[in-house]
Amino acid sequence: MRLKDKVAVVTGAGSGIGRAIALEFAREGAKVLVAELDESSGRAVADEIVTTGGEARFQRCDVAREEEVRAAVQAAVEAFGRLDIMVNNAGVAQPDWDTTLAINLSGVYYGCKHAAETMAPTGRGGSIINLASVLGLVGIGMEGSDPYVATKHGVVGLTRNFAVAYAQRGVRVNCINPGFTETPMIRMLTEVEAIRQQLEAQTPMGRLGRPEEVAKAALFLASDDSSFMTGAPLVIDGGWTAR
Ligand SMILES: NC(=O)c1ccc[n+]([C@@H]2O[C@H](COP(=O)([O-])OP(=O)(O)OC[C@H]3O[C@@H](n4cnc5c(N)ncnc54)[C@H](O)[C@@H]3O)[C@@H](O)[C@H]2O)c1
Repeated sequence: MRLKDKVAVVTGAGSGIGRAIALEFAREGAKVLVAELDESSGRAVADEIVTTGGEARFQRCDVAREEEVRAAVQAAVEAFGRLDIMVNNAGVAQPDWDTTLAINLSGVYYGCKHAAETMAPTGRGGSIINLASVLGLVGIGMEGSDPYVATKHGVVGLTRNFAVAYAQRGVRVNCINPGFTETPMIRMLTEVEAIRQQLEAQTPMGRLGRPEEVAKAALFLASDDSSFMTGAPLVIDGGWTAR
């Protein structure tokens, strides 16, 4: 088990990529705090981990509210005694500027800040993993995409800045940049057959990603296998940005 006795917080872990990461980390021996705005899906993921023999807690958390992110980090330390891994995954894809900035950018900032401040003084270091996107590296020009693209570029910048600031104290900070991945977030696109085919055709590997494939990358970044990696964007996109 690659995360035996490690403690992880995963935000937005009730659905899609966050859920896959929480389940993968638990299978690898981590104790997981499921920090999620939606109570029923968050509780369901924590219950699923416990019924399959793992350790997990649910904590309701709106990442747009700094005090709730701080409370989630504290809850993990109180429940499990330490914090080793913070996954700032919660995000939305919607056209409203203020809402998207509050969740996708401020939420990631609060997560980095409170996790790094908790991890650094212990001397054990830690791993912070932010969910950016391929749209944190390139634009797409779609109507309504400005806030999403801006926030995801911002997540890459925050990742680099926290990485540099905390490198000497053993806290590694990286981000994952997935391409189009089959989750409820993009269901409105993938349900329309013509759009699905277009997205698949734009992807050199000819298909969309699966949440479990992103979770494997998160496992790599969370574990000591990535011990010399910090400040890096890790692209998981079937070749989408390689075109
Ligand atoms: N699906 C994709 O194609 C794709 C591609 C690139 C990046 N991403 C990124 O991956 C991350 C996860 O996306 P997903 O596809 O799994 O989406 P999803 O919609 O399936 O899941 C997002 C989860 O975040 C939760 N959430 C929303 N607002 C929240 C808040 N304020 N506080 C706490 N939790 C909140 C939701 O309740 C939900 O459970 C996001 O940051 C997203 O931008 C997704």
